[in-house]
Amino acid sequence: MFRPTALPQILVTGGRGQLGHALSGVADAPGRDELDITNPASISAALDRYSPEAVINAAAYTDVDGAESDEAGAHAINTVGVRDLAVACRDRGIRLIHISTDYVFSGAVPGGGDPATAPALEPADLTEPTTAYGRTKLEGERAALEVYPETTVVRTAWLYTGPSRDRMGLTGSDFVATMVRLEHERDELNVVDDQWGSPTSTQALAGGLLEMLADEKAGRVDACGLTLHAAGGGRATWCELARAVFDWCGADPERVRPCSSEEFPRPAPRPAFSVLSDASWRAAGLAPLPDWRADLTTAMAEHARVAR
Ligand SMILES: NC(=O)c1ccc[n+]([C@@H]2O[C@H](COP(=O)([O-])OP(=O)(O)OC[C@H]3O[C@@H](n4cnc5c(N)ncnc54)[C@H](OP(=O)(O)O)[C@@H]3O)[C@@H](O)[C@H]2O)c1
Repeated sequence: MFRPTALPQILVTGGRGQLGHALSGVADAPGRDELDITNPASISAALDRYSPEAVINAAAYTDVDGAESDEAGAHAINTVGVRDLAVACRDRGIRLIHISTDYVFSGAVPGGGDPATAPALEPADLTEPTTAYGRTKLEGERAALEVYPETTVVRTAWLYTGPSRDRMGLTGSDFVATMVRLEHERDELNVVDDQWGSPTSTQALAGGLLEMLADEKAGRVDACGLTLHAAGGGRATWCELARAVFDWCGADPERVRPCSSEEFPRPAPRPAFSVLSDASWRAAGLAPLPDWRADLTTAMAEHARVAR
């Protein structure tokens, strides 16, 4: 990960989550028990305790399926909590970077074209979420920018930490970690091949966010008030990502069989197309995140190094 020497004092919310954990080596990263963004008193106390110059909001209700039957719960965190955090940061003059998601888009392929070649999504493209999670995240973006227009919204996609997450004490799983496990457990598996996105490691995203803050501190960049996309370069289907994981494990990628989304119905429909363009990131003067295949190789090599 990019580790600049001159960084502002950073506080990351959601410190027990995967992005929060990836930033915890360079930022204060309390968990929800210490900093609950749905509780303004808890926000104030944490800002007093840590005196950050910058806050990265990685706290979120991220259970995409669960949000379908608990939109109020997701709204309380992803919208109201974000607004309260933004107000607290504004009132103290603290820089705020708010993390959002590809789910703010509808998932439709732009122009109805071929997802393999259709233009990647830009921040100004039409946002039309089709899930409760996506709606609450979009409302959170708008709430933060409304109360604190200097907020930077950074949308990312298909975040993973990989198989090292257990060793890091992270609960739950992610797609890459799941594929490594299933490579051991199954002879063959079916993975959807009709959803396109931008696989992104938490390490790469954390590096990009730190670079932004370091460059701002050095006066080279000013991303205040911008909505940016930060995700792995290129595009993949879940099947392609699974095959790349198998390949890295030294297994035959053909053991991963392509299938359609219809074979895996979920409470919340997954976007068919959420490839994020890095043009806004580059236009802000920032180095693009690595291509997703190179990013995966780095993440898996780190896993192998730590596992030794
Ligand atoms: N994962 C993805 O594929 C993906 C893709 C695109 C965008 N994003 C966005 O990226 C950001 C980071 O996601 P992630 O994958 O790191 O999520 P994650 O691993 O689920 O972590 C989210 C963290 O937020 C915490 N949290 C929940 N409610 C909170 C509250 N009221 N106050 C403080 N903390 C709270 C959770 O704590 P508990 O464990 O106690 O609930 C959890 O530790 C989120 O904004 C997410 O929407 C994620």
